[in-house]
Amino acid sequence: MACIKGVPHPFPYQGSKRQLASYILSCMPDGINVLYEPFAGSAAITIAAAYKNKARRYVINDLHTPIANLWNEIINNPERLCKKYESLWNAQKKQGRSYYDFIRTCFNEKGSSHHFLYLLARCVKGTVRYNRNGEFNNSPDNRRLGMKPENMRNNLANISAILKGRVTVCCNDYKEILAKSRKGDLIYMDPPYQGVCNVRNHRYCQSVDFDEFCEQLFLLNRKKIDFIVSYDGRTGNKVHGKELPSDLNLQRIELKVGRSAQATLLGRTDYTYESLYVSKSIADKRSILPSNYLEAEELPLFCGLP
Ligand SMILES: C[S@@+](CC[C@H](N)C(=O)[O-])C[C@H]1O[C@@H](n2cnc3c(N)ncnc32)[C@H](O)[C@@H]1O
Repeated sequence: MACIKGVPHPFPYQGSKRQLASYILSCMPDGINVLYEPFAGSAAITIAAAYKNKARRYVINDLHTPIANLWNEIINNPERLCKKYESLWNAQKKQGRSYYDFIRTCFNEKGSSHHFLYLLARCVKGTVRYNRNGEFNNSPDNRRLGMKPENMRNNLANISAILKGRVTVCCNDYKEILAKSRKGDLIYMDPPYQGVCNVRNHRYCQSVDFDEFCEQLFLLNRKKIDFIVSYDGRTGNKVHGKELPSDLNLQRIELKVGRSAQATLLGRTDYTYESLYVSKSIADKRSILPSNYLEAEELPLFCGLP
């Protein structure tokens, strides 16, 4: 799988759709008014779409306050954020693991965006994880120091240049964002994996209830609003989570995202596939590739459609 060449990226984030962005963008209709990303995380789809000028305006939303705050800083004050990141990044070289722990404590006390950016750049698998007291508790990945300050500066400056003046950042539950959408907009949804959220993670995310989520999709169908959903998938024959109901009339596409590391360790070659669901309103406009089991890197950017 390949990322779209030239598209800047801000920080590693578990579940990032950066490597699938090329295919997901190819499913989007032309002339989008507002592109909403209600479960934004690292906003990989918004950044790629803005880079390719897919929409007039963009809305980045995430219920997790530090993510929304970080997005506001990236867009409005990228240089200020980079200077602070640079001083954290340089200081860590002299102090090792204890420095990461110190920054983690600072973040847990104050919630500052530069501390959060540093933790995301350094923590294992870019995973935001909290203990039952609501404290960020993920460990550092000791194999790397995190994105170099000069690369971070380039990435954040480019993201700010692409998005400033045409993006709104929100920190709401996804349902409030969906309620704002109108015909002509497009909503890209990547909710947390089913079963991932639990009450212990209350500060990070609230579980997205499956039935409630389906009801929201029914409402969007009724309002004829275009939407695309990334929702679980499978590794080999092992299916993760429930499929979305067939009466939503969605087109389901399986994207091959890579080889399962766990299966490789066990001497097998299972692949992981992610499901992508495209609303009927879009499928009616563009005949999306009907085949399953597609490899993202093999897909043409615009599905060969006019
Ligand atoms: C799988 S991640 C999205 C990753 C994203 N597609 C990317 O490229 O980085 C899901 C995100 O949804 C957020 N989230 C969880 N529950 C939410 C809710 N009820 N409303 C809005 N955002 C929510 C989480 O904080 C998390 O950042």
